[in-house]
Amino acid sequence: MSIVYSEEFKSFYLSTPKTSYVFHVNEGGFLIHDYYGKAIPAYDMREYSNRLVRGPKSADNTTSPGGAPMEYSCNGTGDFRVSALQIRNAAGNASTDIRYVSHKIYAGKPAIPGQPSTYAADDEATTLEVLTEDAVTGAKVTLYYSVFEAHDAMTRRVSVTNDSEWDMDLERIYSLCCEIPFGNWQLCHLYGEWGRERTFERSDLLHGITSVESKQGCSSHQHNPFVALVDKYTTEDTGDAYGFNFVYSGNFSIQVEQIIDGDLRLIMGINPTDFGWKLEPGDTFHAPEAVSVYSADGLGGMSRVFHKLYRNNLCRGPWKNAKRPLLINNWEGTYFDFNEEKIYNIAKQAGELGVEMLVLDDGWFGARNSDKAGLGDWFVNEEKLKGGLGLLSERIHALGMKFGLWFEPEMANPDSDLYRAHPDWCLQVEGRPLCTSRNQYVLDLSRTDVQDYLFGCMDNILKNAQIEYVKWDFNRYLTEAGSCLLAPERQKEIFHRYVLGLYALLDRLMTAYPNLLLEGCASGGGRFDPAMLYYSPQYWTSDDTDAIERLDIQYGTSMCYPTSTVSSHVSACPNHQTGRTTPLQTRGDVALAGSFGYELDVTTMSDEDKEEVKGQIAEYHKYYDLIHFGELFRIIPPNRDECAWCYVAEDKSEALLTFVCVRNRPRVRRRTVQFRGLDPEKLYQDDNGTVRPGSIWMNAGVNRAVVMKDYTTFKVHLTEVK
Ligand code: GLA
Repeated sequence: MSIVYSEEFKSFYLSTPKTSYVFHVNEGGFLIHDYYGKAIPAYDMREYSNRLVRGPKSADNTTSPGGAPMEYSCNGTGDFRVSALQIRNAAGNASTDIRYVSHKIYAGKPAIPGQPSTYAADDEATTLEVLTEDAVTGAKVTLYYSVFEAHDAMTRRVSVTNDSEWDMDLERIYSLCCEIPFGNWQLCHLYGEWGRERTFERSDLLHGITSVESKQGCSSHQHNPFVALVDKYTTEDTGDAYGFNFVYSGNFSIQVEQIIDGDLRLIMGINPTDFGWKLEPGDTFHAPEAVSVYSADGLGGMSRVFHKLYRNNLCRGPWKNAKRPLLINNWEGTYFDFNEEKIYNIAKQAGELGVEMLVLDDGWFGARNSDKAGLGDWFVNEEKLKGGLGLLSERIHALGMKFGLWFEPEMANPDSDLYRAHPDWCLQVEGRPLCTSRNQYVLDLSRTDVQDYLFGCMDNILKNAQIEYVKWDFNRYLTEAGSCLLAPERQKEIFHRYVLGLYALLDRLMTAYPNLLLEGCASGGGRFDPAMLYYSPQYWTSDDTDAIERLDIQYGTSMCYPTSTVSSHVSACPNHQTGRTTPLQTRGDVALAGSFGYELDVTTMSDEDKEEVKGQIAEYHKYYDLIHFGELFRIIPPNRDECAWCYVAEDKSEALLTFVCVRNRPRVRRRTVQFRGLDPEKLYQDDNGTVRPGSIWMNAGVNRAVVMKDYTTFKVHLTEVK
């Protein structure tokens, strides 16, 4: 059992193969955090948290602003650091105070009603539920902890039930509160913009509160719901790394407060700004799940735990471990300017090179000839596609290929039949003009009639043509977020209700079409988060397809998201986002570190390039298992000169290293690049027949050419010699 309770110490011990997490119930019934880090045996740890706590434990009922390491902090009763929970009771008071009531420990992991989360069979995880209560408000607060037996990961979440006779208002409910031991902590986070998603940043923490948040109605391009706390001396391979990731697609908040001498508390949850939830007597609110990973093996060790957990216990359905079809998407190839012949010819020529699926992007429906009209009218535009989707899909299948289709269900252009018929279906605030963004409004997904309409449209398309894949896009943020249906006192619930509506619609679609391969997208990777990966095992990583830009984007994304989720396409040059020209080989080698595909008009390619594409496709097949199921070792983070990474098979029998020369320099001193993650004892042979032990490949490395041109790459493939 990976969770045990000691009656003697009133302590909970949560263990994974390499980590331990300990907290206890003190004399006052408070839950006090004792330890999180490298695996230790289950001893009495209470002394480690021996700091002043308000309540019966201290005779005079006083408190100190520093306070004890609380397991789940509440607002307004003597814990002055960032707090996880605030409930306003019917009398108008928001001081909250929870005390232990009981607990249970059981095999498996329950799902969260209506929400995505990691999942586990009974022999894969153990769960602890700690029931607490606030005697004054009558709130029953349950803390859930699930520990994965095979991964060094645990998940946390919280639910609140109104066990009183009066309404109460949830004002803040974070899913995780974590006390980090004293140290020299730095914060890593993934920031960005459209086209520059998930840029990795690592910096010292100031004293005070540092926040990473979204208020955009989605997890956003600007800040990913991920942070890591690392020791100042932590490297890619060594040292403490605590990673936290929120399984949520809406407004989130991660706050880290450092009071003095490196004493840290981190909270992660729904952003309390623009949030509130009215709980009537008997109602329960379930906060989303947060995942935490501790690794003593640096950032690389932390990332590999996330990768394996998400591949096996977050992504779902037949595609989670099945080989994904190698696709070509027409967006950058044609934009809105296509007809059925053009699409068919792209499919035909791509199919001749070995591409397995044609994805028809934006522009196939309604009056959608630009981004100014048509969103919401999910009916095929037969002027563009004569014979409709059914015929096009048939012709593409006759080529031996699969067919995929783009949707952006959550939106409507003002210039659409949908909006003209149902203006009240959009998010809005009475009397306030609606902002457009990319000429569109956001539909009110909290409404079941809107969900029904959207499901009906998609169902109609999907059942009348053979479609194996859907790209689900989302191209703007939420503003004027009000619902025409919600009562005034519930308008503050709209951001969260929107997300719940989105999950309900996704769930309905995937239940009706369980074999569909869903690819998520939000103007590139603006909603690339674990919650979306629960529905879509791959995500369009960024609209920036430039190979050099992608080095940063894919590096940051790899901090917690596995390669199999990272959609990555080879596009034409000069690149449409940056104007940069890079060799086709480089574009292929970079896209190979993801769910690989093409995003160009193959009919305009030279014969020479087409031959090269055939070679890339052969490599895609050759390395698929290694890249998708192997372990990623980041070797050189992207910088202005170079970047390198390698994949190593789990049994260490095979490896593939990729090196990118970003900028060649005279007299490059470092002429080798070192593998990581091999078995030092095993003998490995490269594709030229050179045999060396893993220790030499990892320490002496491989020679890189002294002169490499800018933007060029090389790969080294090793196989074990038995
Ligand atoms: C977004 C997506 C693109 C493409 C366009 C279509 O920008 O990120 O991949 O689908 O929409 O309008």
